[in-house]
Amino acid sequence: MKVTIKVPATSANLGPGFDCLGIALPLYNTITVEETVLPGTGIEINLMTSEQEENIDEMIFDNIPRDNNNLVYKAIEMLYNSIGQEPSELKINIESQIPISRGLGSSASVIVGGLLAANKLLGSPADETALLSLATEVEGHPDNVAPAILGGFILSSQEPDGSIVYTRLNWPEEWDITLCIPDFELSTNIARSVLPENVSMQDAVFNAKHLAMLINAVNTKDEKLMKIALQDRLHQQYREKLVPGMRNIIDAFKHEDGVIGTVLSGAGPTLLVISHNYDLDKIKSTVKDIWNSQSIKSEVKTLKVEPNGAQIIE
Ligand code: HSE
Repeated sequence: MKVTIKVPATSANLGPGFDCLGIALPLYNTITVEETVLPGTGIEINLMTSEQEENIDEMIFDNIPRDNNNLVYKAIEMLYNSIGQEPSELKINIESQIPISRGLGSSASVIVGGLLAANKLLGSPADETALLSLATEVEGHPDNVAPAILGGFILSSQEPDGSIVYTRLNWPEEWDITLCIPDFELSTNIARSVLPENVSMQDAVFNAKHLAMLINAVNTKDEKLMKIALQDRLHQQYREKLVPGMRNIIDAFKHEDGVIGTVLSGAGPTLLVISHNYDLDKIKSTVKDIWNSQSIKSEVKTLKVEPNGAQIIE
């Protein structure tokens, strides 16, 4: 039996929503899992870049495990084990359109792809709640896996009892999302290692009130409120030193009418510019100029929110 799953990219945090906000975007990883008939053939893992996405550096695939340490395989194994089974010999193809280690949910997408594929192969023993829990267990936090499974703009939380609670938010259609993707990687582990273990009460309150503002700003399409709401004190200031050019790009748009804000996408290094009726070519040229001046190549693209989560396409 063979199954193919298409999973969207995601951008987590959106400023003050550290580890709880995430939005699905129309770049995809397509994961095909086939149970091979011949016993003893082991696991075969093939990685491909999507034809449309020429800029993804294929060299990065050298670092991706092709054995049972591969994240897709681990996710598959986890679902099988959750019902007391072991996966058989598998052939796994991963066609990647989502740049790796750029803060665009690439690992969440392969985890979700593996889980959904295994679930289909096993006759769907896991419901949405179980899939969210398993995916969060592998990823560590639900902010990327939730929109990868559900699509759209999601606020999610892993509660103290382990359960995943989520609520869907509406992204104003007229707010453009521009991804500014530099050609260097930043692993989430490194980006998390620079965060403090504890923060001050002041900073905790700062984020709580700005996240509350953000929720109301999207609900009421209030751009002025959103501009204030996008501030964060839990992660971006610590990560700035890992992303050359980040401060310059944020500052370049800070006082531009029509630009609502610039935030780190997930753990970075991609930046996300939110704008309304603003010249998108100007965003592109400004970002490229700043990064070029630091010898950093980049890809800048404006995308709509992807309303659909991961889908079985075959
Ligand atoms: N919320 C996560 C972080 C997203 O900022 O570290 C990356 O996995």
